[in-house]
Amino acid sequence: MDIKTNIPLSTLTTMRLGGPARFFAEASTVEQLVNLYRNAKKLQQPVTIIGGGSNIIAHDEGFNGLIIRNGIKGFEVVADDGDTTTFKIGGGENWDNVVQRTVKQGLSGIETLSAIPGTTGAAPVQNIGAYGQEIADTFISLEAYDSENDTLVELDWQDCSFSYRHSIFRGSSQGRYAITSITLKLYKKNLKPPFYSGLQRYLDENNISEYTPQAIRTAIIAIRGDKLPDPQFVANSGSFFKNAIVETWQYTKLQEQYDDIPGFKMDDNHYKIPTGWLIEEAGLKGDVINGIKIHTGNALVLINESASSYADLANARDSIISAVRDKFQVVIEQEPLEI
Ligand code: EPU
Repeated sequence: MDIKTNIPLSTLTTMRLGGPARFFAEASTVEQLVNLYRNAKKLQQPVTIIGGGSNIIAHDEGFNGLIIRNGIKGFEVVADDGDTTTFKIGGGENWDNVVQRTVKQGLSGIETLSAIPGTTGAAPVQNIGAYGQEIADTFISLEAYDSENDTLVELDWQDCSFSYRHSIFRGSSQGRYAITSITLKLYKKNLKPPFYSGLQRYLDENNISEYTPQAIRTAIIAIRGDKLPDPQFVANSGSFFKNAIVETWQYTKLQEQYDDIPGFKMDDNHYKIPTGWLIEEAGLKGDVINGIKIHTGNALVLINESASSYADLANARDSIISAVRDKFQVVIEQEPLEI
């Protein structure tokens, strides 16, 4: 297998920052992946697995170990009945190709997750979500290499402890598993309203009243294209911050001061506030700090216009967090993981 040395992480991550990875290899099979982990362990090299690099921020000092890119392909129907089709999909498959292929078959469940960059194996890590769907909704199980016990394991929905933009893979078990495949169950029916307001607006404006997976996918691609920069052409990692989850009393207090503050009830005690609104209201939208631009299409997104180091990004991030905290007493959190 081809193991490269000194590969800049700036070429492996869409924020395009970061120093060299000491070793880099792409695994196209589970066997290759396991061998890479085992050899690295023998040589006492730490290992990190990446997908498309679109939700990872790399440090200037690089990574003193082995970076494995997941290139494990596969797209297989494992069950089919009158109402549903279940797929097992390789962790290295491009996520949006998977959405496209299932939508072409008229299947619903992940169509609003169209045009999200990255790989299928990375999707459960941050429980990708958009426009009312998240991967946890259709997720059945996944297969992974457990680097702690040197075994292949199957984890089901419960094992993964999904929540908003979170799972065990970025929490208690961070760094432990390399996801080799995921199994999703999709539905042979159209989505039903109510839809997210932005999606409904697009459907109304375009006189779409038949909500086929393809019609919804086309709408989402258009909406995202207007608001979110394509990481292929513009250095960014999607939402740089999570939306803020606050307690109900705090949301009520903020409403007294800001009567137009948006918020979505999560449960009896919590509201989710769009962080894009908080950053915009703090007056930062469109600003450039250390070469990092707060995107005008959605202030939740940071674009690397001309930053040359992780420190540039970290300083920009910290001043945004401080500005939001000072104005609203809400502490917002970074969304992408760091290596
Ligand atoms: N808003 C503003 N100003 C902004 C941005 C947003 O006022 O600059 C307010 C508006 O009230 C708007 C609301 O925030 O109605 C929600 O905005 P939007 O629909 O654009 O979604 P979001 O909450 O900013 C989340 C996800 C996105 C996902 C969209 C659509 C997170 C961290 N982000 O963004 O995911 O596409 O919802 O459902 O939850 C990603 O993870 O990379 C990502 C792009």
